[in-house]
Amino acid sequence: MSDYDVFVQNLKRKSGIDLLFYKEAQMKRRLTSLRDKRGYQDFFSYFEACQHNRELFHELLDRLTINVSEFYRNQKRWVVLEEKVLPHLLEKRGKLKIWSAACSTGEEPYTLAMLLNKYLSPQEFEIIATDIDENALKSAETGIYPDRALKEAPKEVVSKYFNKKEYGYQINPQLKKNITFKKHNLLSDSYGENYDLIVCRNVLIYFTEDAKRLIYEKFSRSLKDQGFFFVGSTEQIFTPTDYNFNVFDTFFYQKI
Ligand SMILES: C[S@@+](CC[C@H](N)C(=O)[O-])C[C@H]1O[C@@H](n2cnc3c(N)ncnc32)[C@H](O)[C@@H]1O
Repeated sequence: MSDYDVFVQNLKRKSGIDLLFYKEAQMKRRLTSLRDKRGYQDFFSYFEACQHNRELFHELLDRLTINVSEFYRNQKRWVVLEEKVLPHLLEKRGKLKIWSAACSTGEEPYTLAMLLNKYLSPQEFEIIATDIDENALKSAETGIYPDRALKEAPKEVVSKYFNKKEYGYQINPQLKKNITFKKHNLLSDSYGENYDLIVCRNVLIYFTEDAKRLIYEKFSRSLKDQGFFFVGSTEQIFTPTDYNFNVFDTFFYQKI
């Protein structure tokens, strides 16, 4: 067993993150460069150091989780969500149930809340926002963002929902009312059910094909019939019907 394989096992035991489900070459490159930067020659000594140094361990978790996000990321897709998908969802009676999976620091669930607020009252929808990374979720709840996170957000949204402060943009706390942030590992935790819309973007690219298949199956089971699944802009599903999905629009699937 290689030094890296032992590291993968130890990391799983310590953090619950199983790197066997992530594309190996890419992940190994990221971690080797961090390890080298910190001056460790092998993964054994690097992991030992992480055991005794919280900062080093947090830095490692940060590197694994890749938290980059933005409000209205790939803005054109959000126009499709608003103009083509939402009208279907708004026809439904009852509270809309939405899941923003792997939501990182919250830009995606807040974007959803901003869009839904245009059409619905706060009692008419709920957003469950999850990520494996507790630090990212804490930032999401704090709701302070650097300029770059807002670069695709429409101007009227920025003036309506953000307060410019010295240290960045503070999100309007009203938006948090409809969002529940919680820790969830897509690879090992159980999935909820009866969702009208699941948004999972820019995380599946990091997973192996086997892991993706498992996740698509679970998402499909979690959706209501006719529910929608919104993926990232490099994350088309090649055989959607295997998971009871029809292509609804580019990067949008509808459960059959
Ligand atoms: C690049 S961000 C994507 C954020 C947002 N969805 C977007 O598209 O802007 C990827 C997120 O996936 C999360 N992640 C990685 N592995 C995960 C897993 N097994 N379960 C849940 N979240 C995971 C990371 O913590 C990170 O916050």
